[in-house]
Amino acid sequence: MDQTLWYKDAVFYQIYVRAFYDSNGDGHGDLNGITQKLDYLQDLGVDCLWLMPIYPSPLKDDGYDIADYYNIDRTFGTLEDFKALIKAAHQRNIRIIMDLVLNHTSDQHPWFQASRSDRNSPYRDYYVWSDTDQKYKDARIIFVDTEPSNWTWDEKAGQYFWHRFYASQPDLNYDNPKVQNEMLNVAHFWLALGIDGFRADAVPYLFEREGTNCENLPETHAYLKKLRAFMHQNYPGRILLCEANQSPEDVRPYFGDGDEFHMGFHFPIMPRIYMALKKGRADDMIEILRRTPPIPENCQWCTFLRNHDELTLEMVTPEERQWMWEQYAPEPRMKLNWGIRRRLAPLLDNERRKIELANSLLFTLPGSPIIYYGDEIGMGDNIDLPDRNGVRTPMQWNDSPNGGFSTGKPYTASVEGDLGYKHINVANQIATPGSMFHATRQMVTIRKQHPAFASSSMEWVEVDNPSVAAYRRQYEGETLLIFNNLSSSDSMIHLPEQYQGTYFDLLTGKLETLRESLTLQPYSYLWLQEQK
Ligand code: NOJ
Repeated sequence: MDQTLWYKDAVFYQIYVRAFYDSNGDGHGDLNGITQKLDYLQDLGVDCLWLMPIYPSPLKDDGYDIADYYNIDRTFGTLEDFKALIKAAHQRNIRIIMDLVLNHTSDQHPWFQASRSDRNSPYRDYYVWSDTDQKYKDARIIFVDTEPSNWTWDEKAGQYFWHRFYASQPDLNYDNPKVQNEMLNVAHFWLALGIDGFRADAVPYLFEREGTNCENLPETHAYLKKLRAFMHQNYPGRILLCEANQSPEDVRPYFGDGDEFHMGFHFPIMPRIYMALKKGRADDMIEILRRTPPIPENCQWCTFLRNHDELTLEMVTPEERQWMWEQYAPEPRMKLNWGIRRRLAPLLDNERRKIELANSLLFTLPGSPIIYYGDEIGMGDNIDLPDRNGVRTPMQWNDSPNGGFSTGKPYTASVEGDLGYKHINVANQIATPGSMFHATRQMVTIRKQHPAFASSSMEWVEVDNPSVAAYRRQYEGETLLIFNNLSSSDSMIHLPEQYQGTYFDLLTGKLETLRESLTLQPYSYLWLQEQK
């Protein structure tokens, strides 16, 4: 394959740097900590790390509020540490992408400080100011639990400023060509340093226009195409991953004609995987993937089960959202905004077969999968911690104090109880054949050996049992047949004749013959390769 298309068959791994590994005992995870854990990541088999924001920041939104785009927050290390990490990762064939927060800065950023202080400052126009808070009324509020409005009055400026997230994150004004250039310069700086691309944060909201919902505007796409063209010209092979929590129809334009984003998160499939597991039915997944438009050949979806935010329910109907809350957030404090602030293992009752089945879907449906740090061992969450902090707790390395994360006083509390580090940790799982770590690692390995998983081809196999999600993936002469039984009971299916025959079971390494009927154990899955 063309090496610049590496992301199409890569397995990604998302790291919240503060929580991963503390190399200097100050209680915060850091870049050197990641460098020290590269052997682990290589052993797991991941191809690319996504590092959450590491820029200097007052941390009102865990680094998504940037105060300086050209540096590293001291708690995470230095630019030299970062270069060393990139080098060490590349030596292991592991790439690194980082967050690029385009839409907003911290209110502590010198641009905003200058902007609010003086109407004649060249930075005034870097942000969106207004004498009234009545503009752009059709734009929804995203952080509904905390933000009463997208406008906040600024005493110093004597005007309101526009913000789609916390009031401590003023939106940049993309109508200002200087702002557009600033962000190209930022991208340039990190690409020159050796980074392999960006997870571009909150891209639907760059521009505002009266009478619209201020999302996905043509002006926004035009700017993102500029950013892509810049990268294509100067840094071919580096990627842009789109964070647009939108319907498949609305995400599609972010791929452009293969000239905007290389990758885009598939937000709507994620909650439907949880719906499927709870209902024991495949229909919701089938429906959303049928609705998903094809994307250009040089593009790829990015699939995930969990990330550092709440499990978002923005892409389901209000009835489905209510149902998901009832099923997966039995305690009110598990809810946050339009979502659920819990991790994979606790969401799935810490039941191995359900977690593995969810992973089977993640690794075999179209798109490149992302693993959220810690989910490969099924670590827990801590809902006593506020906001999304409960799913950002220290990585559980072993059963020593602080789970081996830090020799100092950790920046936050760990997970308590059965899913805490005393029970769930990397060291004991590596030492235990058959552990969740080994199961995840096996899936990563197998997925990477079969380009059919990375291809865009996917056909549902029509089976006569709604509990079974069955599909075919094909690429250059290889045919894979995948079965997932979403039900807590045995599921029997009749197989159309064309699928009967001999298969190699990728997970057990044995040959299997499929006849006219097949019975799948509760929550079991099969990854089969057709034998000609
Ligand atoms: C999306 C990020 O995933 C989230 O953590 C953050 O709060 C918002 N964007 C604002 O940057």
